[in-house]
Amino acid sequence: MNKDLLEQEAKRLYKVLGQITRLDGQKYSLDYCKKIAPLTSQINTLKKQKNALILTHYYCSPEIIFGVSDEVGDSYGLSKKAAQARQDILIFCGVSFMAQTAKLVNPAKKVFLPPTYAGCSLAQSITAKEVEELKKEYPKAQFVCYINSTAEVKALCDVCVTSANVFDIVANSKHEQIVFLPDIFMAQNIDAFLQSKGIKKQIIAAGGTCCVHDKYTLKDIEIVKQKYPQAKIICHPECRKEVCQASDFCGSTSAMLKYVKETSAEVFAVLSERGIIAVLEQENPTKTFLPTGRVCAQMKLNKLEDILEILKDNKDIPEVKVDDKVAVSALKSINAMFKGAQK
Ligand code: 13P
Ligand code: SF4
Repeated sequence: MNKDLLEQEAKRLYKVLGQITRLDGQKYSLDYCKKIAPLTSQINTLKKQKNALILTHYYCSPEIIFGVSDEVGDSYGLSKKAAQARQDILIFCGVSFMAQTAKLVNPAKKVFLPPTYAGCSLAQSITAKEVEELKKEYPKAQFVCYINSTAEVKALCDVCVTSANVFDIVANSKHEQIVFLPDIFMAQNIDAFLQSKGIKKQIIAAGGTCCVHDKYTLKDIEIVKQKYPQAKIICHPECRKEVCQASDFCGSTSAMLKYVKETSAEVFAVLSERGIIAVLEQENPTKTFLPTGRVCAQMKLNKLEDILEILKDNKDIPEVKVDDKVAVSALKSINAMFKGAQK
């Protein structure tokens, strides 16, 4: 590979990554950027040759976000970008349910997930069989599933939601009884939101919790408030209800990014996945972000090396597939979300 071009690529990487704090607390160094430059430059050349699009969730590592991605977003934003994609190949850096959703919304494309499988404690917390049982128990209820669910579960639900549109979609629902799954904490947060707006609905929760966001407690907030009383505390609605209520702002990943940009505060404690803090640091170089981020280990399974292998047609990384019958019904619930979301 041309030495000058690699030098240029390392400098390009360092310009963005140099502002970001790594998981070990150090800033990305120029030496590290030199080490990954051969990988990012091969990926960026090959993705053009192969007509591939790289879509990346904010929770993936900064090397992927800033080094090779064409689209970076939260699960709602990326599902829309995947649906609109014209390229032949979609490489989805995220977890399995996200890549599966990309395949559902754009089935003609070849979709790949670099780690082949990357789990999510929410998507794994409920099976289609359990949803079928719930449907027998609550025959009149509307079934609303969080996008963090398998295609089989989505196929049994009326509408899919993400944290970016759940409050609007549920508030506008005509149903009085809603089964919300598979995030019990988000269900509690929806219930609290509806009550605050005077909207009467029964929310029945099923499933589990996010193993990253469920770790935050009021103690974390107390510590931040004692040490940094000026800090704005922001969190994701997968956090516990009491954490959301004690925070200055609670919203989806994209809503948190917008909040920080538009708020004049200088210091923020972000109670969410570490990846969003890297993006915040890059977007807001004069603001300080306390080291409150937690790590979703499954998101970090996405590696530059595997992206390159996909582009080199390594058959060890198979295409993401969804059963045809399941796909038809699952897509209905996703399309209901696109229809019901405000933007
Ligand atoms: P977003 O919808 O905000 O991208 O969240 C997805 C997720 O997995 C959060 O833990
Ligand atoms: Fe799933 Fe939580 Fe990881 Fe998001 S952060 S992918 S909800 S385990």
